[in-house]
Amino acid sequence: MNATQTAPQPSVLARQSFIEMSARERARSLLDPEGQRELLGPFDGMQSPWLPRQGIVPQSDDGVVVLRGRLDAREAVIAALEGRFQGGSIGEVCGAKICAALELALRDCEAGRPVLPVLLLETGGVRLQEANLGLAVIAEIQSAVVALRRHVPVVAVIAGMVGCFGGMSLVAGLCSHIVITRQARLGMNGPEVIEQEAGVEELDAADRRLVWSLIGGEQRVATGLADALVEDDAAQVREQVRGFALQAPAAARSTRVAAWRARIDALAAREDLGPGELRAAWKAPRQAQGDKA
Ligand code: COA
Repeated sequence: MNATQTAPQPSVLARQSFIEMSARERARSLLDPEGQRELLGPFDGMQSPWLPRQGIVPQSDDGVVVLRGRLDAREAVIAALEGRFQGGSIGEVCGAKICAALELALRDCEAGRPVLPVLLLETGGVRLQEANLGLAVIAEIQSAVVALRRHVPVVAVIAGMVGCFGGMSLVAGLCSHIVITRQARLGMNGPEVIEQEAGVEELDAADRRLVWSLIGGEQRVATGLADALVEDDAAQVREQVRGFALQAPAAARSTRVAAWRARIDALAAREDLGPGELRAAWKAPRQAQGDKA
């Protein structure tokens, strides 16, 4: 796995916000300008059959943009989730689009024609209105990521503002590399869900400073659960994605089960862990094991 990195910061005025872009703009900004083509775009009308039955207006791309093209002249495919549509949640159709894109890339990789996959994850996880179908397709996406990462690095970008939650946070965890911004959040359950299920004494979801100190991008990089912290800058995101995507496939984070177990064991006895202590405690076994994750 890669060394944890913090990229140099460009001046604020020189930046083009990546977070403010739509999913389509984000995907376009990452690929070489020439030869981009969208697969199953809005005019193909692949939309959710389930949302209208629940009184929700569907979107004609079901909230996922799949773009084929090149990354530094290498074949690539990007699946970008639109956080502004149903919180980027995964339903049957959009999930199948991601899965099919990854499986086609896998087929090419197996035939000796590498295709670099990049996932732009902006998602509240399974779409609550399509629960079981969403769960099933997320499992298929996870399988495709695991199969693909043997051939090529699978890069995930979590930019914000939604973040990455639920089954899709597991997808992120399976990827070869995670690029994240300070504004992003990464976690299994969203803060509101934790507060609702475990009570406000467990987590006050309205306390933004606390939430970000626990699951924000900076903390995730500091504790080895993401690989590169980038500014909200399209050029910097692209540079970092390119850096990771063009590397040879490395051992994925999720394969190092013994190292993670050792870290969890070292922390299990402690009840006083705040975000700062967690960073310090997390670093100790990492240094002892020479593990750079
Ligand atoms: N399914 C359907 N819609 C979802 C969704 C999901 N899984 N996650 C988010 N959304 C929708 C919200 O209902 C909201 O819709 P609205 O604008 O029509 O009201 C929109 O996405 C934005 O969500 P909101 O909660 O207003 O934004 P936020 O920035 O405050 O919080 C999350 C974003 C993702 C942190 C929060 O929505 C959340 O905690 N979601 C659940 C995440 C989770 O725990 N998933 C795991 C379930 S196992």
